[in-house]
Amino acid sequence: MAAVPHHIAIVMDGNGRWATRRFLPRAAGHKKGMDALRACVRHCGERGVKVLTVFAFSSENWSRPADEVSSLMDLLGVALAREVPLLSKEGVRVHFVGDRASLSDKVRAGLAQAEAATAGNDRLTFNVCFNYGGRWDIAQAATRLATEGEAITETSLKRVMALAHVPDPDLVIRTGGERRLSNFLLWQAAYSELYFSDKLWPEFDEAALDEALADYASRERRFGKTSEQVSSTAVA
Ligand code: IPE
Ligand code: IPE
Ligand code: MG
Repeated sequence: MAAVPHHIAIVMDGNGRWATRRFLPRAAGHKKGMDALRACVRHCGERGVKVLTVFAFSSENWSRPADEVSSLMDLLGVALAREVPLLSKEGVRVHFVGDRASLSDKVRAGLAQAEAATAGNDRLTFNVCFNYGGRWDIAQAATRLATEGEAITETSLKRVMALAHVPDPDLVIRTGGERRLSNFLLWQAAYSELYFSDKLWPEFDEAALDEALADYASRERRFGKTSEQVSSTAVA
């Protein structure tokens, strides 16, 4: 059975190298990365994926040179103004996931507006992790429960984590050749299938997505059970 993942999460890595190899500024790679993302959202929708979560800016990416950080902030502004209305037309609901406290008032208002404008859509839920870190998420969730005087359990944490509105990712893809999570979805990826592509993010096209989907379809997800148990429930 060629299962399509309900939820795909992607570490979109390799924009900088894509640009450097072409003697372009890194910002040009990020811009090209946005084109790849636009196409990826569309292809995921066409293949029946219901949730797409992407890593756009990590808690640690503030350590990059100031001009690169500001080009990424500018790109977020462009995405809000230009891309969100197009996504909305395609039935995409947008959520921004991450710490908004260190973003400017203008950006914060833009994020809230994009979420409100797409709130009625249900073809694909698109989570953009911006100023996000898996450690931040676990800490903010625990702080919230402590403030509310609630016991910290797996169930209560799950309820207040930043991706509480969607099930855990079935498939986590990282492009760019590195085999690490870089603080992405530390909690939610506990049982995700991992797929690493050597393609740089701007080159991750429809065919590359299909390769990842085919690889996913060949996996056996056991969730701690034995293979025999899994195959007997599959035919039952
Ligand atoms: C990923 O591409 C995008 C962000 C981290 C914002 P990179 O910018 O990390 O690209 P490389 O890894 O330097 O090639
Ligand atoms: C992870 O990529 C963050 C995003 C894709 C937004 P990085 O390029 O920041 O990760 P490291 O530094 O190589 O681990
Ligand atoms: Mg990188």
